[in-house]
Amino acid sequence: MPATVLVGAQWGDEGKGKIVDLLARHSDVVCRYNGGPNAGHTIVADGETYKLRHMPSGILWGRECVIGAGCVVDPAVFVEELDDLEARGISTDRLRVSGNAHVIMPWHIAIDQGGERRLGKLKIGTTRRGIGPTYADKAFRLGIRIQDLLEPKILRQKLEVALAEKNVWLERVYGAPPLELEELAARHEQLAQRLRPYVTDTSLLVDRALRDGQAVLLEGAHGTLLDLDHGTYPFVTSSSTLAGGAAASVGIGPTRIDAVVGVAKAYVTRVGEGPFPTEIEGDDQTRMRKLGGEFGTVTGRDRRCGWLDLVALRYATRLNGFTTLALTKLDVLSNFDELRVCTAYRLRGGEETRELPAHQSDFHHAEPVYEVLPGWLEPLDEAEDLAALPEAAREYVELVGREVGVPVALVGTGRERERVLRA
Ligand code: GDP
Ligand code: IMO
Ligand code: MG
Repeated sequence: MPATVLVGAQWGDEGKGKIVDLLARHSDVVCRYNGGPNAGHTIVADGETYKLRHMPSGILWGRECVIGAGCVVDPAVFVEELDDLEARGISTDRLRVSGNAHVIMPWHIAIDQGGERRLGKLKIGTTRRGIGPTYADKAFRLGIRIQDLLEPKILRQKLEVALAEKNVWLERVYGAPPLELEELAARHEQLAQRLRPYVTDTSLLVDRALRDGQAVLLEGAHGTLLDLDHGTYPFVTSSSTLAGGAAASVGIGPTRIDAVVGVAKAYVTRVGEGPFPTEIEGDDQTRMRKLGGEFGTVTGRDRRCGWLDLVALRYATRLNGFTTLALTKLDVLSNFDELRVCTAYRLRGGEETRELPAHQSDFHHAEPVYEVLPGWLEPLDEAEDLAALPEAAREYVELVGREVGVPVALVGTGRERERVLRA
């Protein structure tokens, strides 16, 4: 059975966790393929709220869960999450972590924080969890991997090499206190004992599962426009968020994937800095934030809110090859008597385009061209399928599918696990 990839189609926080949880029920293996604890996925199940950061969102169903080689892991956060889930009666026995995943070390966090402070007004607005510096060291071939943690001699050697450089940075560039070798080595040797049972060859595990005809779900974190190569650089994260990156990060061939689910909110949010053409100004933004509960899962920051951007969604479709879309949080729009949907951008010269401009300055200056649609002004609680939605809501969903050229297969109408309508 081929693998399915699930990708955030906007700037993250699209409700991926909830949709993965839904699809995980019918999957055998769920793999996270990128990022680290910068992700925050909220799942509301049986009245309980779970906030996952490292864990694949299939963990609540007890599925075999994998953290792939392309991820970065903060061992302290990982252990905290393990303890929290176990304490709530969720087993982590079937969780596996790639030995090739890179470790977020304390200096990465300190450098992320120091770097943002230093950039001042030019900051990226990162989650300050050390993500960028960890991926940078990986590319620089100075990184520490999960498998290094398991061998005290290698760990100590790598710590010595890294600290010789990082402490100079910390002290001279950021005025931060240096890190101490013995303390770090002891702490990480201890954390390694907690991680050890979970570490395995995850590429082989996924390959075998696929050969055995099992259903494998590859879960992306963040979102398409936060992709390192194709997102709104430099206001992006440091991993490949796209469907194309999923196979490479997990360690299987791209020919094993045949379905790509794009998850998009019925509007758009963004956390941190960077261009956002459809950002709403004034009271409606605050209203939408409150109605949608748009506050960061990881950092608690206000999420910036905007109208649905179909130009960006078309771009996400091009980059990922979505085979279906899941449109979440349609219920949040029930409170607006008039809805705006961006169908094109007007560029600086006045020309209109339906494609996302490739050049950053064109994108930064792009003005949204809106189609104004009637709202439905009634709750969506009663609807049990798409056909039962109020007419204006159904038309909204149809417009999205038509404009993007991808069928909308799932529609979210509430936070709870069961609040999803199928086409
Ligand atoms: P993720 O990072 O993509 O998993 O998304 P987050 O969990 O960060 O943010 C999505 C938020 O929307 C969470 O609080 C979810 O509980 C919530 N949510 C997901 N789907 C729906 C929906 O259809 N309606 C409503 N009202 N809330 C939803
Ligand atoms: P989920 O998986 C929303 C954003 C940060 C910042 C930029 C870089 O919950 O959708 P980083 O810490 O990654 O170096 O920050 O990327 N960002 C997210 N925004 N949801 C996320 O994850 C995000 N992960 C990173 O806010 O703008
Ligand atoms: Mg999130």
